[in-house]
Amino acid sequence: MERLYVNLGENSYDIVFTTGFDGLLGELEKINAPKKLLIVTDTNVEPLYGGELKEILEKNGYDCALYAFEAGEEHKSMDSILGICAACMEHGLDRKSQIIALGGGVVGDMAGFAAAIYMRGISFVQIPTTLLSQSDSSVGGKTGVDFMDSKNTLGAFHQPSLVYINVETLKTLPKEQFVSGMGEVIKHGIIRDAQFFDYITANSEKIKALHSDTLIKMSKTNCAIKAAVVEKDEKESGLRAILNFGHTIGHAIEAAAHFTKTHGECVGLGMRAAAYISKERGMISAAELEKIERAMELYDFKLSCKIEDRDAVYEIMQKDKKKTAGTLKFVLTEGIGSAVIKKDVTREEIYAAMDYIGE
Ligand code: GLY
Repeated sequence: MERLYVNLGENSYDIVFTTGFDGLLGELEKINAPKKLLIVTDTNVEPLYGGELKEILEKNGYDCALYAFEAGEEHKSMDSILGICAACMEHGLDRKSQIIALGGGVVGDMAGFAAAIYMRGISFVQIPTTLLSQSDSSVGGKTGVDFMDSKNTLGAFHQPSLVYINVETLKTLPKEQFVSGMGEVIKHGIIRDAQFFDYITANSEKIKALHSDTLIKMSKTNCAIKAAVVEKDEKESGLRAILNFGHTIGHAIEAAAHFTKTHGECVGLGMRAAAYISKERGMISAAELEKIERAMELYDFKLSCKIEDRDAVYEIMQKDKKKTAGTLKFVLTEGIGSAVIKKDVTREEIYAAMDYIGE
């Protein structure tokens, strides 16, 4: 079992990387986990791992209930949060109880948000089962739900007490969801670590074949990159925004397509667009742009898409701007391994980037 410590003062926690669920009990003991627990999952993950996990916990003295909500981004809502809170009440969870989030990003974000508000906040454990959640959303304490067609608008920072990454769960993940998760992994290489970027391109065959040791190595380095950023800027007052590389245009494409494309596919398109703007500004060479594109191709990303309505995508980006006090923050790269936040990216540059990635 590999381990990484996320140093956030009194909110510090371990991320463990392993195969199987055998190590979970020991990890729960280490954090002195309460005996009364609610496992929160969705209808996709429940039949895969819900029963197995509940059985392991119950056999070992935990008083544990399981609550599954309907899978899908469209259920990432306050209604679902109320459902989770009702399950907490029905199972008699009190301030000393704990929630376990078992599933992908939507599950982790919602279970974490419910944990943040139930009885003014209880502890929670993340057991991410998708590559997207193992590589990004389970680390860093961002929790929340979508609201009025806007992603993650209601939420809270609430750090987990433990993140338990069982890379074997990736074996049941649909291929398009694996590709989606690789978007965040490639992003971490581009913004912070050229050596890691080279590692994931050199080892693509093993990674795609889900070779456990390689996945554990990749996952640990990937989470170390994210954790180092979060440790410096937990509440996103500055540096943490570099994690949004590819997300400004990516989120807008995702919303304009009414969430019919995967998050990672859109982030991939957004990263290519941001890398193109970086190249046009002379911040990276044409060869570096091509290197980024080749990495995305290795992991079967679509490099282009039909953008039916560029104005609609641009308008959605302006909504994002409202969220950040009137300035559109755009993350560009100064070379693989380095990112900067720019506030002066123009409409013309954005439209040119949309043309570049458009079909
Ligand atoms: N996914 C970006 C962040 O955690 O800040």
